Amino acid sequence: MPKDQLTITDNRTGKTYEVPIQDGTVRATDLRNIRVDENDFGLMTYDPGYMNTCSCRSAITYIDGDLGILRYRGYPVDQLAENATYLETAYLLINGELPTASELEDFTQEVTHHTFVHENVKTFIDGFRYDSHPMGMLVATVGALSTFYPEAKHVKDAGIRRKQMIRLIAKMPTLAAWSYRHSVGMPYVYPSNELSYTENFLYMMKRIAEPKFEVRPEIVRALDVLFILHADHEQNCSTSVMRGIGSSQADPYVAVAGAAAALYGPLHGGANEAVLRMLREIGNISNVPAFIKEVKGGLGSRLMGFGHRVYKNYDPRARVIKRLADQVFEVVGKKNPLLTVALELERIALSDEYFVSRKLYPNVDFYSGLIYEALQIPVDLFPVMFAIPRTAGWLAQWEEMLLDKEQKIARPRQIYTGSEERAFVPVSERKKVRSDQEAVKSSPRETD
Ligand code: CMC
Repeated sequence: MPKDQLTITDNRTGKTYEVPIQDGTVRATDLRNIRVDENDFGLMTYDPGYMNTCSCRSAITYIDGDLGILRYRGYPVDQLAENATYLETAYLLINGELPTASELEDFTQEVTHHTFVHENVKTFIDGFRYDSHPMGMLVATVGALSTFYPEAKHVKDAGIRRKQMIRLIAKMPTLAAWSYRHSVGMPYVYPSNELSYTENFLYMMKRIAEPKFEVRPEIVRALDVLFILHADHEQNCSTSVMRGIGSSQADPYVAVAGAAAALYGPLHGGANEAVLRMLREIGNISNVPAFIKEVKGGLGSRLMGFGHRVYKNYDPRARVIKRLADQVFEVVGKKNPLLTVALELERIALSDEYFVSRKLYPNVDFYSGLIYEALQIPVDLFPVMFAIPRTAGWLAQWEEMLLDKEQKIARPRQIYTGSEERAFVPVSERKKVRSDQEAVKSSPRETD
């Protein structure tokens, strides 16, 4: 009997099936041969939240959650954080190899020359309310870019695809910075071709009337490192959305808008914002034990910035970020007082049975918010700071999906749990249907 095969006996029929095992997986469609009779659709898998389902083959990012390993195209993320720039990393993600000096120069030049957006973009950013969340504005404006580049829909054309990838990587910082400027009622600052990717973002965000805008190089480098650490993370929620939208052959602008919307949630990229709000709410180290008690009792929120679907060990990005935080605090000359609260939370959580037994460790978002705060980036902007660098990862994954011959439009199955067929009732004859809660309250079991 071949070793790479799974033998399944269906006790409903007594029949035995051989299912090939490849790369530690069985194909869900192979299970369709397992039927009780000819009319049976065949066995399916049920996997809410994709806990144990590979949706693609990918050569971009490798994670070993138990060992705490993260590599982009084979390069450990800490080595990239130590030695590369964000644009070098973006190039690596989308092209598969690190650029040569001249390739990097050309790529940087191309990105730099696509940072401007159409003037009309300003008009619709102006249309948002003064207190709109910058992430909401970013999602809407990046989606709207689709209308400026109608050729983007030709997703099978490699040249057109590449052009939109450059545009998106280049324009995300502009849209992000302008969303912020709108929220503080400041005029928009146009990109400057003299500056690096990260410095240009800080410039568009922060420039007021200085004759020469200057940021400490250590700060620019810190932001670049944060961007490298956030550039890709294989099949996470937003990337799956990117691939899912892209699978219908929609253009990359609307796909990035959808991915950014998925990132916005507090369980994903919105966690860095949630961590800061949580630390502020705790406020003082003396309140930490009570907070932990609430988390464990399920009464309060989760411990934001802790836990990960894949890492059951220290998130390797969190290690780099923790070191980076110390360097940034040294440059800005003061420690964030919330750092003490964060360190105490981490200390307790890493020794508490609840967190230890569930393998909950600090993730990338636990310390990144503290660094952003030290860089005087407002809390509302934190998820936006995640979306800018993740764009390169989304695009690399999107193109890989389009070129993968095995991929099809994403279309999961379901287990239907609703009513059997029933006849339409005219509105005049309808009676109020009791809600589930009312039904429970009046059920005999309750009154027994
Ligand atoms: N605080 C308290 N308990 C937690 C936490 C937490 N942060 N995370 C998980 N748990 C518990 C959870 O209640 C469950 O306990 P039980 O088995 O008793 O029901 C157990 O741990 C497993 O949790 P889960 O929800 O089944 O795990 P998941 O893999 O579905 O969720 C997660 C992963 C990241 C959504 C979750 O850990 C979480 O909500 N963390 C807080 C939000 C956060 O920091 N998100 C950023 C993730 S990293 C950035 C990114 O890549 O997006």
